[in-house]
Amino acid sequence: MIVLGIETSCDETGIALYDTQHGLLSHTLHSQIKMHSEYGGVVPELASRDHIRRILPLIKQTLATAECTLQDIDGLAYTQGPGLAGALLVGASVGAALSFALKIPALGIHHLEGHLLSPLLSTPAPCFPFVALLVSGGHTQLMQVNGVGHYKLLGETVDDAAGEAFDKTAKLLGLGYPGGAALSKLAYQGQPGRFKLPRPMLNSGDLNFSFSGLKTAVLTLVNKQEITQQTRADIALAFQEAVVEVLTEKALSALSQTGFTQLVIAGGVGANKQLREYLTDMVTAKGSTVFYPELEFCTDNGAMIAFAGAMRLRASKYKDHQPANSFTVKARWDLEMLTGTSSSE
Ligand code: KG4
Ligand code: ZN
Repeated sequence: MIVLGIETSCDETGIALYDTQHGLLSHTLHSQIKMHSEYGGVVPELASRDHIRRILPLIKQTLATAECTLQDIDGLAYTQGPGLAGALLVGASVGAALSFALKIPALGIHHLEGHLLSPLLSTPAPCFPFVALLVSGGHTQLMQVNGVGHYKLLGETVDDAAGEAFDKTAKLLGLGYPGGAALSKLAYQGQPGRFKLPRPMLNSGDLNFSFSGLKTAVLTLVNKQEITQQTRADIALAFQEAVVEVLTEKALSALSQTGFTQLVIAGGVGANKQLREYLTDMVTAKGSTVFYPELEFCTDNGAMIAFAGAMRLRASKYKDHQPANSFTVKARWDLEMLTGTSSSE
């Protein structure tokens, strides 16, 4: 079964073709980062308009790369939420229109489910059940994943998401938007031990996070120092160390709380090299295994949506899904509200 995946929830237009027999056939991505960077953040109206410009050429390109035609597709999967309403509407309307025209099923996919399942695109892939640490620009959550659609929230941020903290701190250090990757690069020039920042909620006794205080601590440091290039790098390193330590400790606690031995990292911050190295060392030392998506599938992409759609279509009674004759998007959508597929129970 071949599923076309469409991701347009924020500032990336991602398209992919996933085949349940042969895996990922092709995928394309257009990032709007350059367009939004001059405004210091995503401008929703510009995002929607750019998705409209990009989506059909990208679908054509994805089909051509896989040497497929529209008639080869068995199902459509589009990101239905959460995200920017106008941006979501672009992917949902194209997905529903193709489904209607081709008389094939369409599935609205939860964006975070796409992220959660993205490590299953790699080999070796984790098996259910596992703990997932979801660290993106909008979310920081620890999830117990029992199967496709069976998610239990173990803990989450009470304020800023980890990616948001990276972006805001990067801005304070004069780096562009989004600043996560740039901050991480700058941190490599930092001298360890010069600054020590707090580890928020490290000993809170639960699996929740808080990152907004860290950004304030960075602001205080920035205001107190003469800001040389070396000082910026030292602050970047101290910030990254604090985030990495808190994320790692909480992920380890989630593993011991659930008794699971597999940890999956998903979302844009999962691309962070220091996080990957530290987590791998700490998790392996406890006899557990950590799984990462390929770097290109950490940030938003169409492959994770095509894959989640394929898993859901394969597990359900295919004929239960009708071609779309209408569609809705959900700018806000709680992951725990999803229902599962029987085969993964
Ligand atoms: O998952 P994602 O592409 O979008 C959301 O769904 O939010 O994540 C984007 C976030 C941004 O905040 C970005 O700064 C952060 O991931 N990010 C990183 C790195 N690469 C991307 N943060 C830290 N280190 C990185 N290497
Ligand atoms: Zn995302």
